[in-house]
Amino acid sequence: MSGARVMPTVYIETYGCQMNVADTELMLGHLGSHGYRRTDAPDAADVILLNTCAIRDHAEARVLGRLGELARYKRARPHVKLGVAGCMAQHLRDGLRARAPHVDVLVGPDGYRRLPELLAAPEGDQALALRLDPEETYADLPVARASGVRAWVTAMRGCDRFCTFCIVPYVRGRERSLPGPHLVDEVRRLCDLGVSEIVFLGQTVNAYRDGGWDFAELLARTAEVPGIRRIRFTSPHPAEVSDRLIDVMAGCPAVAPQMHLPVQSGSDRVLARMARDYDTAAYEALVAKLRARVPGLALSTDVIVGFPGEDEADFAATEALLARVRYDSAFLFKYSPREGTRAFRWEDSVPESEKARRLERLIALQEGISAEINRTLLGTEVEVLVEGPARRPAAWMAGKTPQMKTAVFLGPASAGELVRIRVESTTSHTLLGRLAA
Ligand code: SAH
Ligand code: SF4
Ligand code: F3S
Repeated sequence: MSGARVMPTVYIETYGCQMNVADTELMLGHLGSHGYRRTDAPDAADVILLNTCAIRDHAEARVLGRLGELARYKRARPHVKLGVAGCMAQHLRDGLRARAPHVDVLVGPDGYRRLPELLAAPEGDQALALRLDPEETYADLPVARASGVRAWVTAMRGCDRFCTFCIVPYVRGRERSLPGPHLVDEVRRLCDLGVSEIVFLGQTVNAYRDGGWDFAELLARTAEVPGIRRIRFTSPHPAEVSDRLIDVMAGCPAVAPQMHLPVQSGSDRVLARMARDYDTAAYEALVAKLRARVPGLALSTDVIVGFPGEDEADFAATEALLARVRYDSAFLFKYSPREGTRAFRWEDSVPESEKARRLERLIALQEGISAEINRTLLGTEVEVLVEGPARRPAAWMAGKTPQMKTAVFLGPASAGELVRIRVESTTSHTLLGRLAA
């Protein structure tokens, strides 16, 4: 170690949802203002943080495995501080301290303000910040965003809905919104820096409320920011989609015609036991209203298979719902019992092999639907916001359509440009084409 080192370096690995991606940028910004420099190389970092997820058992198992691997960096360079941040730290607390005693810092989603102080604790001490704070929004802290066409902006934190399967309310605490004018100012600043697309984040983002502003108002005000091309948000809760929100989506061209609307199940019996606050009739009425008002709307969803008590008829109802709604895409999950939730007390009645069978059936069904929907775009022209070079083929460019579909095309074009592409072939996930004349 050289005494001449000026700034300590920090490496953060991010797991879980976009809220965690945004929180990592927040941690990097906050630590940056306290003299830390970011690095992408864990073997050169003075501080290694894992920003973790607790949504399913698999997410936690991965991090436990990774913590075992990272122990070698501490062995090689004992001054290195290893920290676990985020939802899993909040969920496992003492259990994590017991299973990974070499971890120096445990910090939950409301403890990030204290990171500089936690990292300054004497070597060998475990520093903890695991208290949830219903007032914490971090609105005043700097965010070190990845440069690019799109920026993720946290609009609200926490969740008050307590769906019976879900750990989020326990690890992220009560719902709270960031100040509306502050958010619009931030979007204005980002657009001045060349960002074209904003994605507002929140676990129930449409529950956003700041004084007189609801979520629809936030979108409408954001749409007036000069230079903004696309506004997206994730995830809205189906029970809280207001008519005003639909009006704003229909009336503001900058608000992209795309919505992620998690349905979770197609069985009313299961939805009631999940405490989702809607039944399939209400959900599908909402879908019909959205499609009638927002032309070209793309819909995606989340589904859980194998929830406690889900029988063959319930599962068949979910298949039927996917076939009726015809989502553009879907994230499909096997139910994973989460300690602390209400459903954890119920028997995990669907065997793993049956969960796997149901998942595969849904994947096959949805892949077919996604492929069919994308095939209808063959020969049409789509508008693409260019993000950069495609992973493949070499020399091709990639971007997203307003519907958030990935489009890959033969350039020339540069990041941030809006181009028109003629679609020449499609898969269930991608559109391929060339620049329209
Ligand atoms: N706030 C969003 C969901 C966030 S979690 C909403 O209200 O829909 C992302 C997805 O993970 C959920 O939509 C759900 O489908 C899935 N999920 C949550 N808890 C789960 C669990 N215990 N087992 C399996 N999947 C789960
Ligand atoms: Fe979890 Fe339900 Fe909140 Fe979504 S709305 S984060 S599924 S409790
Ligand atoms: Fe996971 Fe936390 Fe997001 S549990 S899904 S990282 S809010």
